Amino acid sequence: MINQDFLQTLATANGVSNLELDVLVLAMNGDSTTAIAQKLRVSEDAVRKRLSEVYRKFRILGNGPVKLTKLQQLLVSQYQQYLAENDAELPANSPSSRPQDVNPYQIWSGAPDVSAFYGRTEELATLEQWIVSDRCRIVALLGMGGIGKTYLSVKLARQIQSQFEYIIWQSLHHSPSIQDVLANFITALSYPEKIDLPAALDQRVSLLIKYLRENHCLLVLDAVEIVLDSSAAFWRYNNESEGYGILLRRLGEEQHQSCLLMTSIEKPREIALLESSTGFVRSLAVQGLKPEAAKKILQSKGLTGEQQWSELIQTYRGNPLALKIVATTIQDVFSSNVNEFLKYEFLAVSDMFREILDWQFKRLSNPEKEIMYYLARENNLVSVQNLQQAMQQLITTSELVMALESLGWRSLLEKVQSEDGDTSETLFSLQPVVKNYVSKLMALPKNDG
Ligand SMILES: Nc1ncnc2c1ncn2[C@@H]1O[C@H](COP(=O)(O)OP(=O)(O)OP(=O)(O)O)[C@@H](O)[C@H]1O
Ligand SMILES: [Mg+2]
Repeated sequence: MINQDFLQTLATANGVSNLELDVLVLAMNGDSTTAIAQKLRVSEDAVRKRLSEVYRKFRILGNGPVKLTKLQQLLVSQYQQYLAENDAELPANSPSSRPQDVNPYQIWSGAPDVSAFYGRTEELATLEQWIVSDRCRIVALLGMGGIGKTYLSVKLARQIQSQFEYIIWQSLHHSPSIQDVLANFITALSYPEKIDLPAALDQRVSLLIKYLRENHCLLVLDAVEIVLDSSAAFWRYNNESEGYGILLRRLGEEQHQSCLLMTSIEKPREIALLESSTGFVRSLAVQGLKPEAAKKILQSKGLTGEQQWSELIQTYRGNPLALKIVATTIQDVFSSNVNEFLKYEFLAVSDMFREILDWQFKRLSNPEKEIMYYLARENNLVSVQNLQQAMQQLITTSELVMALESLGWRSLLEKVQSEDGDTSETLFSLQPVVKNYVSKLMALPKNDG
């Protein structure tokens, strides 16, 4: 049985209103729609509407009664996870015992289970140092899709959880409004006190910062790229998400004793402006897994042909998602043998990975696209000067420089520093999977319509 207070907190964190929660509690007890309507003195239609809102807010997909089962499973598993983390059963005969009674108070709704987590010891140590010892106010984990940002954020937050009074993990995948996210944070941090939420954004941020000053909190925002509107050259937020920029700026600039840990494929402008390697705002470019850790993924998929594993890992730059996807193909089509797969000398960019790249590519400005096309055709590393000469008909030098910078922010370029005597130069290229994707794109008939 799920503790009512836990349910209430979880519901609040997911933006479920009290009216909706009433319906949820009865439905969880097995009451029919008719019975719930009678008990709450509302129409059956209203009951159905509220329940469907609850499903939407918990991101439960599907049809009919299956949804309730799915939601029950989700809630029970989160409750069990919560109990396991806090190493204690809430006293069964004390219904008023709140999650806060157990230190720290945590909300992990939507966070993946990271029990199969490999490698990343150095990253974890660095990040722990930044957050716990150096007291950074914002730490951004940046990197391309599937590289392992979300996993790393969860692993890290769990590793350092004892240092915080509150941990709230919030995904932005369903693009919640900034107002809702702030409301969730504030409600959780002020619980059980009932407070009036200010309507104005600035005041809401100020109230949140007040709690972040009084308490030691770790807030995690996952998938921040979803609320960035970076199709514009200057990385503006769309009006809806402008507030996220304000939140980042104020959390980075104002004094408090908490930390916002965020993950994003693209670097938000605020982070680029505020970050410094020794300051309170820092970012980590998350790279692929080291060979040893990446091998464990291939091992877990039961692949053979171990002599060739390093080649496979290097081709996909240790990207754990890409490796998992390609390992599945190798299992299904090549009898689990990496040798067999590599004989074909093609790079599988499966649908799942293509989706991520499609999403990223759509957001590029024209100069950025031109650079990507050029790099996809090149087999060598390319300098700024090479690019400028080759592309002068297409884009101006300032467009080129800006586009190179923003492509870097979007985790789409590989850069190496070439040292030649006293001079050092940055050289650019695309990693194989991205190159393969862009080449295929160029081979498609142009569709301007
Ligand atoms: N350290 C790790 N050990 C084992 N598996 C991992 C690790 N990191 C990531 N993975 C695997 O790779 C997948 C992708 O990781 P994750 O979701 O963290 O990537 P991401 O960078 O957040 O991607 P996106 O930008 O698309 O959200 C995970 O589902 C997980 O299976
Ligand atoms: Mg992620």
